[in-house]
Amino acid sequence: MIVEIDNGVYFVGAMHWDRRLFDELIPLPDGTSYNAYLIKGTEKTALIDTVDPAKSEELVKNLEKLGVKSIDYIVANHAEQDHSGALPIMLKKYPMAKVVTNEKCKRFLMDLLLLPEEKFMVVDEGDKISLGDKTLQFIMAPWVHWPETMLTYLIENKILFPCDLFGSHLAVSNIFSENGKLYNAAKRYYAEIMMPFRNKIRQHMEKISKFDIKMIAPSHGPIYKNPEFILNAYRDWISDDVKNEAVIAYVSMHGSVEKMVEHFIDSLTKQGVNAIPFNLTVTDIGELAMALVDAATLIVATPTVLTGMHPSALYAAYLANALRPKTKFVSLIVSYGWGGKAVEQAKSMIGNLKVELLEPVIAKGHPKEGDFKALDELARKIAEKHREIGILN
Ligand code: FEO
Repeated sequence: MIVEIDNGVYFVGAMHWDRRLFDELIPLPDGTSYNAYLIKGTEKTALIDTVDPAKSEELVKNLEKLGVKSIDYIVANHAEQDHSGALPIMLKKYPMAKVVTNEKCKRFLMDLLLLPEEKFMVVDEGDKISLGDKTLQFIMAPWVHWPETMLTYLIENKILFPCDLFGSHLAVSNIFSENGKLYNAAKRYYAEIMMPFRNKIRQHMEKISKFDIKMIAPSHGPIYKNPEFILNAYRDWISDDVKNEAVIAYVSMHGSVEKMVEHFIDSLTKQGVNAIPFNLTVTDIGELAMALVDAATLIVATPTVLTGMHPSALYAAYLANALRPKTKFVSLIVSYGWGGKAVEQAKSMIGNLKVELLEPVIAKGHPKEGDFKALDELARKIAEKHREIGILN
């Protein structure tokens, strides 16, 4: 696919419609894209990022169709292979090209792709490269989501190329597609990839607020002709504001936990708290991550297996701890047969989360009247906490 997205700037990347898993971990319900951009200046030509190795032939064909005989600069905003993986092929086809990136990214690319050092041109914060009538400016933005990441700004066209930042895993036939899926896809991407770096992103957004941006062209998913759409969404997601929501990540083996969760959902609803349950045995883990972007409270509900949490609940707790959502309150619902340490285990797993732990509900065998009352009390406590922070009247 080739699209002139602005005067002298071309999308030359590739759609990966049928990719269903990223990093052998993250579900991709809508596929993804690897966006590379060719910029033709009056004197020089630059390529912004490349594509995943699986789609390198497509990038080569796109450049051939555009009649590109030489490339002077290949900007590597990020070393991860879904954007850098076609660099060796590009350097073979365009041997005069220099790989433009920062020092740390250079080292990564030498390690990951075995590129020789003489192929690189190192840039730093604020450095500019002239293409004649167009100028590239580089903005260092580490930790979105690797330590070497940077952004590129095309001054005359007012286009920001942020690579992964602001991206979405969404394959589209129209690169400017702003259909209803885009917000959710961008939120899912933020939740899975960017959420642990919320504070870093806040600093980077402060920095880019000083640039006049008329278009944001990320390296996954559609291009934003209206940058405020995604900037506003990010402002909301990275803020400290939480919503009156309780995510319930649960798994049930013989029905006890399920009965407690069903009762608990009713209790929360009566208290005016929005319950968002996820049965972990059938949940797309990306949906759970998305829910954690906003929720004030997380409840993990698990039976006891071999003295600890069920492995699916363990995974959910691990994921929540790794993604570092802005969740403020956490509790547990546990059932057991003859003992166990599920609560201690859960507590030890969420050290990254700055949360208040609310009294867990622990039932022996089938839940009984006292257990249901304890669930009502936990729901009441959550509502009280949500009122204290001003998200429930
Ligand atoms: Fe799209 Fe971090 O690579």
